[in-house]
Amino acid sequence: MRSFQRDPSVLVDIRLDKIQADLKMNKISLKFGGMTALNKIDLTVKTGDFLSIIGPNGAGKTSLLNCITGNYQYQGGNILFNDKVITGLPTHQIINLGISRTSQNIELFQGISVLDNLLLARHMHKSYNFIEASLFSRSVKKNEVYHREIVEELISFLEIEPIRNTLVEELSQGMQKRVALGRALALGPKLLLLDEPFTGITFEEKEAMIRFVTTLNEVWNLTIILIEHDLPVVLNISKKIVVFDFGVKVAEGSPDFIQDHPQVIEAYLGDSSTF
Ligand SMILES: Nc1ncnc2c1ncn2[C@@H]1O[C@H](COP(=O)(O)OP(=O)(O)O)[C@@H](O)[C@H]1O
Ligand SMILES: [Mg+2]
Repeated sequence: MRSFQRDPSVLVDIRLDKIQADLKMNKISLKFGGMTALNKIDLTVKTGDFLSIIGPNGAGKTSLLNCITGNYQYQGGNILFNDKVITGLPTHQIINLGISRTSQNIELFQGISVLDNLLLARHMHKSYNFIEASLFSRSVKKNEVYHREIVEELISFLEIEPIRNTLVEELSQGMQKRVALGRALALGPKLLLLDEPFTGITFEEKEAMIRFVTTLNEVWNLTIILIEHDLPVVLNISKKIVVFDFGVKVAEGSPDFIQDHPQVIEAYLGDSSTF
């Protein structure tokens, strides 16, 4: 079996030794009508970080990811990725710079198999020139083989060989989330954004997902931003944690620091369902 540990760079296409993924958010403000979803958020993520965002429902966590990926246009502030301003760029350009994500509500391509979901994701963002494709030149063929190889690597890493030909809608929630992770990886990210990957899945699926996510950070050097409600898991796997509430950042620090933070203690000892 091929091993991922040997060549983590395969997913980012080029960089062998250094996968730079520095994100800087400066005073991001997002409003929906009169409602402020994000209020002047400053956030810095350094290459190699594993940053988790926690906070009650409606705190603005998903909105923050949507701002990074260009899905939401924010009214104030700017975002830099590897020192390049990405504010105002369309989502596909942001993906091509090396930022990809999974969504809270999975969003796979329905009616096609697991394998086709991964191949399609790969092609949508790494497609070759149309004329070149119609002539089916040697470089295109080489490209095809390369894309296929990457997808096969992902299938093996995520241990989804047995379901490779299954239609995605026939899969459990946990396996759909795993395929969605594969799809995000097929885009060749340097920075990976995960929105509640452990929520609503079985214990075994969750254990596997935790293993994949930590390997991606520690072995593949992918920089990760994770949104998750499961505090024990978050405390265990994150390098840094940010707490959001009502669109503002209320705390930021190491897992040890956050664990002892009054607002976090109150939320968990009080009504833990709100987190
Ligand atoms: N597209 C949208 N249109 C209107 N309001 C939105 C939209 N997206 C998010 N919101 C609002 O922004 C706030 C933050 O939502 P969200 O970012 O989804 O929170 P979280 O992910 O922390 O649960 C909520 O009040 C939500 O209703
Ligand atoms: Mg959310």
